[in-house]
Order: sequence, then structure tokens, then C-alpha cells
Amino acid sequence: MEHKQLKQFPENFLWGSASAAYQVEGAWDEAGKGESVWDRFVTIPGKTFKGTNGKVAVDHYHRYKEDVALMAEMGMKAYRFSVAWARVIPDGDGEVNEEGLAFYDRLIDELVANNIEPVVTLYHWDIPQALQDKYKGWESRQIIEDFTRYAEILFKRYNGKVKYWVSLNEQNVFIQHGYKLASHPPAVTDEKRMYAANHVANLANASVIKRFKELEIDGKIGPSFAYHPAYAFSSKPADQLAALNFEDFEAHLWMDVYAFGKYPTVVWNYLVENDLAPEIQDGDMELLKAGKPDFMGLNYYQTDAVESNPIEEGVGIGKANYSGEKGTTEASGVPGLYKTAVNPYVERTNWDWDIDPTGLRIGMRRISSRYDLPILITENGLGEYDTLEADGSIHDDYRIDYLRQHVKAIQEAITDGVEVLGYCTWSYTDLLSWLNGYQKRYGFVYVDRDETEDNTFDRYKKDSFFWYKKVIETNGQDLGE
Ligand code: BG6
Repeated sequence: MEHKQLKQFPENFLWGSASAAYQVEGAWDEAGKGESVWDRFVTIPGKTFKGTNGKVAVDHYHRYKEDVALMAEMGMKAYRFSVAWARVIPDGDGEVNEEGLAFYDRLIDELVANNIEPVVTLYHWDIPQALQDKYKGWESRQIIEDFTRYAEILFKRYNGKVKYWVSLNEQNVFIQHGYKLASHPPAVTDEKRMYAANHVANLANASVIKRFKELEIDGKIGPSFAYHPAYAFSSKPADQLAALNFEDFEAHLWMDVYAFGKYPTVVWNYLVENDLAPEIQDGDMELLKAGKPDFMGLNYYQTDAVESNPIEEGVGIGKANYSGEKGTTEASGVPGLYKTAVNPYVERTNWDWDIDPTGLRIGMRRISSRYDLPILITENGLGEYDTLEADGSIHDDYRIDYLRQHVKAIQEAITDGVEVLGYCTWSYTDLLSWLNGYQKRYGFVYVDRDETEDNTFDRYKKDSFFWYKKVIETNGQDLGE
């Protein structure tokens, strides 16, 4: 669809940026904080790039004032960050750690004082290790109660100050990496356990949303979903079917549960036939239905071109690129469903992620048509190598190009009729990129932090910082084209 004229971004559009506790805070064992599964996982040799971890990360815990001052200088309207559960309740289900909560009090107050809307993520992958040890974390239904109690503490404490809440960040990512690919904690490779843990996570997600409504918290809540819209590699009917499979198994499997409180029929049928279906207890489906979100949080980075994949000797899990060596990603798939193919029509990053702004518009259109929910873009950005020049500048024109095209795609989606609450780029400062170390940078603010121990943690404004400042000032009218 082409438009003669694009609509303006709505007034009060949340121009923002995002981060996650483990990736920025550091202070991993300070002020009574408990150990999280990530604190433990990174100590396993070979699990992360050059053994990097978030013990110190980019030291946001101690430098949050400086970081918020930079956000204010930029004119940022919203900042999405996550709360580390183990900072608030060190063992996950016991005493509340007031000193831990005090950090979030300070951060939220600082944001509010600078007219920056806090967008709080309850869970960005760092479950307390104690709960993993006690009952295997997401594999036990006990987590539903414990997660809801933790969320309720935050809801009540910040009611009135925080208006936007994200329940689970990328359930599809932490569940698949955690229980199928073994590349995130708890590093399991067992699909039956994966679907069981996923069902429990669905219930926990619905339970906190239901509680939020019961408490009549003033604000909106929704999950953030990592959506890779699928393209059929060709117009061959078998490839079209593969793309449909991908959408059902990689997207609707989660988003249908959030929005409709039900599993997609075709996926459920497959799970039953393959003895992978989770146990459904009395009351489960009612709870899922009661947890309807106010918006769909969308984390968008790329699309996937997919083609058919035979059930006999088809392609399974391929090697991923966590090294930044372009072209090292292998095809990946599920025999009988789909496999990925290299899309010849788009550029790729050094980590082999497709750069596809139109894919963002397509994804937004699909979500809007299928779920009829407003969208809050909770992540979008470019992970690349950056160079700090001798004069302290960083010329990241590639990032500006990337973001400009994606902002344009959002404006087009808005003109198509999609309701969008805001846009949080990933990320504000540079941070730890879970499996890729510190060399894959996403921020507007460069942090002197790499894989070595020899870092100053000084902050430097990249060219993209000044670009985004202008975009915000003009409410998206000046994209610097
Ligand atoms: C999302 C996560 O999956 O993508 C972020 O919510 C993450 O935490 C981001 O950092 C980029 O991924 P990566 O692997 O490049 O860090």
C-alpha cells in the first residue's frame, strides 16, 4: 500500500529506548541482591562470547544518574528497563530486600523528575537461582504464585509513578533458548519439558496481568514478544505452507495465547500427535483468557525467509552467529515444518541479522489485524561494531540509517491504520549482548567497556544520539533525510 501523504506521529508518542537489568546494571551481588540464573550460567565455560558476564555490565547501578541526565539532554520521553527479581526478593519467594527496591525507587524518581516515562519490565530472563534450585523455575506451577507476588509488590509500590508495564520479555526466546537450544539457562534440550515450561510461563504471564486489573493499577500492561515475521522463500505452494507453519509455530503459539487465551488449533494438534502437549489443568484456560493484555509489546529486529523442509532428514538446529563473523550462520529448521533460507532481497548485519524495515510494517499490520490491540514497540535496533575516535566521537551513520528506515516504516504502518503507543529503540547505552559480549553495540551512548577488564566505563555520545534528539524534538517530522 502506498500513501500520497503520511500521517503524523500521535501527540504524546513515547519516543524511548530500552535496556534490561542483567545487561546494564552490574552490582550483581551488591546491597543484598541474590544470585540469578544468568549470574550462574555465565560461569559455565564456553557458554558466552569470550566468557563475558554482567557482573559489572556497564555499571548502570552506580551511574544511573549520569545515564538519566543524558536521556534528559536527548529529550527522551520513555525509558524501558527491567527489574531484577533477585534484587527485590533475593531468594525469589522470601523476604523483600528494601535496599534492592531502593535502587528502583531512585531510578524511577530520577526518570519522573526528568519527565521521562518509566516503562517497567517485570521479567527479562533473570529468575532467582534459588527458585531454579528449589523447584526448577519455570517447570513448576509454584512460580505462578511467586511471580505474581513479586509483581504485586512492584505494582503497589510504583502505582501512580509507572504507567506502562511489560510482563514477560520474549517468552518465546527464553523458553526456546533455555529448553531446546540449551544456549540460555537452564540449558536443557528437551522439547516436552520446553512446552511444559512454556505453558507455566503462559499461566504466570496471565496471572500477573489478571492481578494488575484486580488491583486497578493505573496504567497499561502487556508482554513483549520477539516477532520475526515470516516470508515464503518462493511462491512454490510448499514454501507458502512453510511460511504458514513458521507463523503458527513461532508466533501465534505465543501471541494467540496472550490475546485470545488459546493455543492455535494446528499447533495444538501437532503437540498432541507428537506427545509434546503440556498438561492442562482445570482452570488453566480460564486464567489464560483472563490475562488479556492492554497492548502487544513488539520486539522487532528481522524477518525470516523460510522454505519447505522434509520430515525425513530435514534440516534441524543450525549454527548461529555469536561471533560477528558475517556469513557464518547456518540454515535452521524443524523437519516437516520449515527451514530458513537466505533472503536475497535484504542486507544483513555482521551477525547475519536481516535488515528489513518493511518487515516491521508487515509485522505491525499482521498483529493489528489479527489481535486488534495497540502496539508498543519495546525493542528495535542495530547491533554493530562501533569505533571510538580519538576526539571522543562515534560516527555510526549505519545505525542512523537503520533507525531512520524503521521509524519511516512505523509511520507508514500508522498511516495504514495501526495504533502505536511508542517506540523504544534497543538500546540506550551500549550493554552486554547476552551471548555476543560487549563488541556487538546497540546504544546511542557508547560505553568504554569491552571484553577485557581494562575499562573506564566513560560514556560518549554517538552521532545517532544527536539524530534521535532531533527526531524526538520534531515528533518524527525531521528524520534527517
Ligand atoms: C532481544 C532481547 O532478544 O534482543 C535483548 O530482549 C537483546 O535483551 C536484544 O539484547 C538483542 O539481541 P542480542 O543477542 O544481539 O543481544
